Amino acid sequence: MSVTGAIDGGAGTVPFIVTPVGRVMGAEISGVDLSKPFDDAVRDAILDALNAHQVLIFPDQDLSKEAQVAFTMRFGEMEQHVARNYDGKTFGDVHLVSNLDPEGNPTKTPRSSGNFFWHTDKSYHEIPSLSTILHAITIPPQGGGTQFANMQLAYEALPEEMKEKIAGLRAVHSWEASRNNTFNRPATEEQKKERPPVVHPMVRTHPGTGRKTLYVGTHTSHVEGMPVGEGRALLYQLLDFATHPRFQYTHYWKEGQVVMWDNRCLLHRAAADFEMDKYTRLLHRTVVRGTKPY
Ligand code: OGA
Ligand code: MN
Repeated sequence: MSVTGAIDGGAGTVPFIVTPVGRVMGAEISGVDLSKPFDDAVRDAILDALNAHQVLIFPDQDLSKEAQVAFTMRFGEMEQHVARNYDGKTFGDVHLVSNLDPEGNPTKTPRSSGNFFWHTDKSYHEIPSLSTILHAITIPPQGGGTQFANMQLAYEALPEEMKEKIAGLRAVHSWEASRNNTFNRPATEEQKKERPPVVHPMVRTHPGTGRKTLYVGTHTSHVEGMPVGEGRALLYQLLDFATHPRFQYTHYWKEGQVVMWDNRCLLHRAAADFEMDKYTRLLHRTVVRGTKPY
């Protein structure tokens, strides 16, 4: 099914075609050139589509880093990144997601393996991310997908006893826990100071739709006020349930695509299902800050 909308954007009518792609989320949006300025009506229509479909795929975008930053800033404040490149420097506004070693060659053991684990971006911040935007620069011939799990559907599918059990519970999220949970180098003292642990409700309300959604993932360490082991077990039980294939969509990339996803109600991870030591996978990443979960 395709929905064609003609949006009167003040400066004229903007063609906008929304074609749902996945069984549980995802829509392709065509007819928008993200490198050009667009008015608020188009921005709002993109946000409406994000609320409705959670993952938006914009094909064939010729987007410089500067244009990606400008596009991102239409949706809110830009996030900065904790992770550093090989040279120890920050990435600036556009973070490179790649499997490249310091010499620029593809490797099975890239700088960070955090992306291979289910997470929602920057949940270790007091104010986590609304959306992440990736622009595919170089994509391997097969595989290299990104998997998403719909936390709204997962929440709705939980048994009533579990919904009652977790109502009002809060999980502790931190950069330190994230590094420990993902077989990464431990967080440095400086990083721990820069990103102290935060707590978020395990069930949050999506500010755009009013739907309840699970809010967990590998940035969590334990549940506030619960013995650590018991809380971790509960978090992993929920993560396991919520990432069942029936809640998943896997996006296979094409070069030039821009994908924008909703971190408020999705978990995601890189599939790592390609020959990582043979082919390059490179994407440009920007992140929009959201609002405090409630
Ligand atoms: C990210 C991320 C997954 C991927 O950029 O936040 O988790 O498939 N990426 O690269
Ligand atoms: Mn991520």
